[in-house]
Amino acid sequence: MASRSSVRLLREPLSRQWLSLVQRRTFVAAVSKSRTATGLPLRPGVSTILNQTRGLKQIDFAGHKETVFEREDWPRQKLLEYFKNDTLALIGYGSQGHGQGLNLRDNGLNVIIGVRKNGASWKEAQNDGWIPGTNLFDVDEAISKGTIVMNLLSDAAQSETWPAIKPQLTKDKTLYFSHGFSPVFKDLTKVDVPTDIDVILVAPKGSGRTVRSLYKEGRGINSSVAVFQDVTGKAEEKAVALGVAVGSGYLYKTTFEKEVYSDLYGERGCLMGGIHGMFLAQYEVLRERGHSPSEAFNETVEEATQSLYPLIGANGMDWMYAACSTTARRGAIGNTSLGSCCSKLIMTADWSSRFKDTLKPVFNDLYDSVKDGTETQRSLDFNSQSDYREKYEQEMQQIRDLEIWRAGKAVR
Ligand SMILES: NC(=O)c1ccc[n+]([C@@H]2O[C@H](COP(=O)([O-])OP(=O)(O)OC[C@H]3O[C@@H](n4cnc5c(N)ncnc54)[C@H](OP(=O)(O)O)[C@@H]3O)[C@@H](O)[C@H]2O)c1
Repeated sequence: MASRSSVRLLREPLSRQWLSLVQRRTFVAAVSKSRTATGLPLRPGVSTILNQTRGLKQIDFAGHKETVFEREDWPRQKLLEYFKNDTLALIGYGSQGHGQGLNLRDNGLNVIIGVRKNGASWKEAQNDGWIPGTNLFDVDEAISKGTIVMNLLSDAAQSETWPAIKPQLTKDKTLYFSHGFSPVFKDLTKVDVPTDIDVILVAPKGSGRTVRSLYKEGRGINSSVAVFQDVTGKAEEKAVALGVAVGSGYLYKTTFEKEVYSDLYGERGCLMGGIHGMFLAQYEVLRERGHSPSEAFNETVEEATQSLYPLIGANGMDWMYAACSTTARRGAIGNTSLGSCCSKLIMTADWSSRFKDTLKPVFNDLYDSVKDGTETQRSLDFNSQSDYREKYEQEMQQIRDLEIWRAGKAVR
């Protein structure tokens, strides 16, 4: 986990950091400076710029060198020049369509929206100022006008509409995704991309609403960037430029496969499914052992989300531990020196190790289920039903009705 100072530094333009390097204040020294200012020890080599050429940086992330692109290399004038002959046909106006589309428009690029006429998205696009016949069209008309087709339909709809969309993706167009889902799992989705066009990906690591709000704050979201097929020899450059144009601050190079595996795995795990499961398990035990709903909620969700998790986000796990009492720490901190096979030792080990050892097999099952396409099939089956919105709403109601979240409402 990166420290707060390194996270903050990564969100700063790297060129600005590079300037500091020139000024003989190294990135590590900068980390060191702010870390020691907080009274916490410096972890050496947290993140180091190894190599910088224009538009491409190699950064050492805890011993692993990775390629990162940054917004600073694509100022607005350069974007306008680069895309001056392009029409960006953005298909779909859900969370990503909204965020990416408005950012492209505010950047001055020639962007049009393609959605089903008179669907929910059509109305939302109109509310956001897109004008029917000018820059708002139905899907087919938008594709026919576009040189770069940005497929931001729901993943299930990408599969459903592919037979109609594929023939329109003629030579010289570029196909853009924000998720590797459709082409990677083509045996299930049937999205077999034409072989004579560039196929690229920019996947923001967050909701489209955040893509928009960070852009409006003058910041940029972290995104993955990847090339599935490079016919022109310019696919990567185009992907990076588009990534910046839709509102990314930093773009981390990956592949379509890695993006979709890590994304489906992460959201089912720590980001959403895993954390909800853990909240429920902890809450239920507290309630079964006689604690009141408010006490169970405060000790499970409220303290986590309002106090401790923001500390992890701001400055790392060690910072969160350091901010807690010695009593809390001893017992929570993972003691990796104790093996998982010796039950006696485990009983005296700190609890983080025990949770890790218990949960790791579940995470391995989850990764298998993502990689073998089970999760994709589940998603396609559910989300392609005509009444998927109603069914999803029923599930949300069941969650809202759980005691933990009803108690939460009262607590808040
Ligand atoms: N949301 C995120 O946090 C996030 C983050 C990164 C990447 N992504 C990726 O970005 C892409 C778009 O996701 P999203 O969350 O923005 O959108 P979404 O909510 O999944 O999809 C909404 C869009 O799909 C359209 N749609 C659904 N069924 C359709 C059909 N049968 N025919 C035509 N249009 C149909 C909807 O139009 P109507 O209103 O007319 O139904 C709407 O415009 C996906 O590949 C997703 O994996 C999402």
